[in-house]
Amino acid sequence: MALLEVKNLNLELNGKKILNNLNFEIWKGYVHAIMGTNGAGKSTLANTIMGLSGYENISGDILFKGKSLKTKTISERARDGITLGWQEPARYEGLKIEDFLNASAKRKNTEELKKALSTVGIKPEDHLNRAVDKTLSGGERKKIELASILLMEPEIAFLDEPDSGIDIESISRIFEVVKILKEKGTTVVFITHSLAVLSRADHAFLMCKGQIVDKGDRQKIKNYFKEECIECEIKDPEVKKEEKRTDER
Ligand SMILES: Nc1ncnc2c1ncn2[C@@H]1O[C@H](COP(=O)(O)OP(=O)(O)O)[C@@H](O)[C@H]1O
Ligand SMILES: [Mg+2]
Repeated sequence: MALLEVKNLNLELNGKKILNNLNFEIWKGYVHAIMGTNGAGKSTLANTIMGLSGYENISGDILFKGKSLKTKTISERARDGITLGWQEPARYEGLKIEDFLNASAKRKNTEELKKALSTVGIKPEDHLNRAVDKTLSGGERKKIELASILLMEPEIAFLDEPDSGIDIESISRIFEVVKILKEKGTTVVFITHSLAVLSRADHAFLMCKGQIVDKGDRQKIKNYFKEECIECEIKDPEVKKEEKRTDER
């Protein structure tokens, strides 16, 4: 049985169809990638699976371990072991990093906290007492969020653009975290348009205009993406227009 199954999923936002009869299955223990160009609907899909406010009005279904998530709140989904690393992690003014990490950690153990921070490249002695606020760079917040997922030991972790805002030297740390998560039994799903991230997945899906258009091993999806999607994105005036609008927002 699939760990997570998305069945005929449709979602409209502000009258626009963003997810369009989407179907796919996530198998337990694998590192998957959901690959697609800007605007394909990847973040919307992740937000919908997580059950974020504003993304509830779906048709079709999402099954986790065979049970529908449709009526479950975001907290219930989190308790079930589903987590999402945001494309742009939230800030929590005044909340200490130590408290932020302890809020989701499976075990409240300071040594484990420090080790998780070191794994993502954050010096524990400089950061444990700082706040998860605007004084941290986007990359630092991304790393701290990754440390929190490591400590959480979820069943499934969706990582939305895990390399965005992360400096080149630190990217290998993300993959180190993914390796540890996999060893601990977490199923990882990258949400990405990066070929470097795709190269770390066992299996991949290709998403375009709110649909899954292909799936298979990473080499197959890499070839498809390079040969078709990048070209298409350059050529497709609709995508260009949409990106411009998004950038202007
Ligand atoms: N709240 C919204 N209302 C209307 N359109 C939206 C909304 N959120 C996202 N979109 C549009 O949905 C499409 C998919 O967005 P998104 O899921 O962020 O794509 P991706 O993560 O693949 O880049 C884009 O065209 C985006 O502009
Ligand atoms: Mg996105």
